[in-house]
Amino acid sequence: MTWRSTDIAGATLADGASREVLLGTTSVLLIRSQGRLYALDAICPHLGGLLADGLLEGERLTCPEHAAAFDVRDGHVLADPFGIEPPLDGVGPLTAFAVRVEAGTIEVDLPDR
Ligand code: FES
Repeated sequence: MTWRSTDIAGATLADGASREVLLGTTSVLLIRSQGRLYALDAICPHLGGLLADGLLEGERLTCPEHAAAFDVRDGHVLADPFGIEPPLDGVGPLTAFAVRVEAGTIEVDLPDR
């Protein structure tokens, strides 16, 4: 695992906001929810929906394509595609990455390739 700088100042990501950043070949979605910072795979594991265009409600992120929903705290599935809840293994979880603010800048811990 390697900490990678996003070049985004931690203070610029407001509560309830998200921002997609490309780190190498990995698209990461940064989210600040309820004062905490999270980093998740930015691509929906169902059929590739762009989660930066999803609906963020507290700690729940809903894909804009088919309404699968994920918990931003660890990426686990809250609803399958088409809003089926509780989920029935219709989609896998989002990858969640460790995230921190170092010297004011957001860093994400990505696996080494
Ligand atoms: S692409 Fe995200 S729910 Fe289908």
